[in-house]
Amino acid sequence: MNPEQNYGIHFISDSFKELQLWLANNQFSQVFVLVDENTNKHCLPLLIPFLNGHVVIQIKKGERNKTLITAQKIWSALQQNKAGRNSLLINLGGGVICDIGGFCASTFKRGIKFINIPTTLLAMVDASIGGKQGVDFNFEKNMIGVFRHPEAIFIYLEFLKSLTSKELKNGYAESLKHALISDNKFWYELSAKNMSSSDIIKRSIQIKQNIVLLDPLEKGQRKILNFGHTIGHAFESCALLSNKKPLSHGYAVSAGMICEAYISNKICNLKNDELLEIENKILKTFPKQDCYNNRNVIIDFMRNDKKNDDQKINFTLLEQIGKAEINLTCDDILILESLSYYESL
Ligand SMILES: NC(=O)c1ccc[n+]([C@@H]2O[C@H](COP(=O)([O-])OP(=O)(O)OC[C@H]3O[C@@H](n4cnc5c(N)ncnc54)[C@H](O)[C@@H]3O)[C@@H](O)[C@H]2O)c1
Ligand SMILES: [Zn+2]
Repeated sequence: MNPEQNYGIHFISDSFKELQLWLANNQFSQVFVLVDENTNKHCLPLLIPFLNGHVVIQIKKGERNKTLITAQKIWSALQQNKAGRNSLLINLGGGVICDIGGFCASTFKRGIKFINIPTTLLAMVDASIGGKQGVDFNFEKNMIGVFRHPEAIFIYLEFLKSLTSKELKNGYAESLKHALISDNKFWYELSAKNMSSSDIIKRSIQIKQNIVLLDPLEKGQRKILNFGHTIGHAFESCALLSNKKPLSHGYAVSAGMICEAYISNKICNLKNDELLEIENKILKTFPKQDCYNNRNVIIDFMRNDKKNDDQKINFTLLEQIGKAEINLTCDDILILESLSYYESL
């Protein structure tokens, strides 16, 4: 596990002057900026004036490209441009760029430094923080990866302006999750929609940071962040396997949270009215999705998930809104029942 866990998270208000200063203090031999076609167009122009020489590495956007093939292209670009141990990779993008860029930087020459400049809400409140880097493999999410932290994270809310409402919702799903697992008050404030986006982002980052700091390698309590993800990831994997449009992470997780809230209600004492509260609020923002084709395939994806210790499917479930419990299991019948419940809503 790298370096420092206590990297800084910088909230940028008007320009990247703070980054410029940070770069000047660190004296990197070369600076690489990883982008996809969208962040190249919408985000890089705001950064360039504050970089003193850089090489742009562009990859194709989207989850389908979070693969070892793309990683090879990034490693090749670093190699061809003679990146050395004192080079810096700036990940300028959403969760895909942060995950694959962090992975490539962590493995190139046994590790070069990287920073994250998340440009989606999801990456700001979740993917850029916590040190999990990786790529998908054989249709399974994040199968190959490492734990390693960025040197710093720079959050610039201006980037949210070019996002579609669908992308904003993707990030919102993670904030809902943060509230459900650890902060009852935040849940009701969030759903009352009376918080500024900047406050939501700060509160959400704080929740994730606090959890990760206590358990950086996910040996225990960090698993509470997996709420909604056991089933949500299986939905995503099913969509990757099929030829259908990929199901975006936030939408998959929001459906997963409803299924897992249902299981919580059956085996973890989550009250009926809290289950209703959760599903109503989630469905208001995230209309029902067509999440999978085949029930056996979905159970197989869950069983192979790296979150499991053995063949048992590991769940984080809710005892109440704002309180989660880790390392729970249930039988396949209840999992299938939760899928039917979601379908019936
Ligand atoms: N490492 C972690 O802890 C962690 C946590 C949560 C999610 N993730 C991963 O994050 C990924 C999802 O992240 P995401 O939703 O940000 O996906 P993404 O990176 O694919 O971005 C979504 C879309 O928005 C575009 N985009 C990005 N910034 C933009 C901007 N400012 N303006 C306009 N368009 C922009 C991208 O090009 C892409 O098309 C998944 O792969 C998921 O597994 C990782
Ligand atoms: Zn997530």
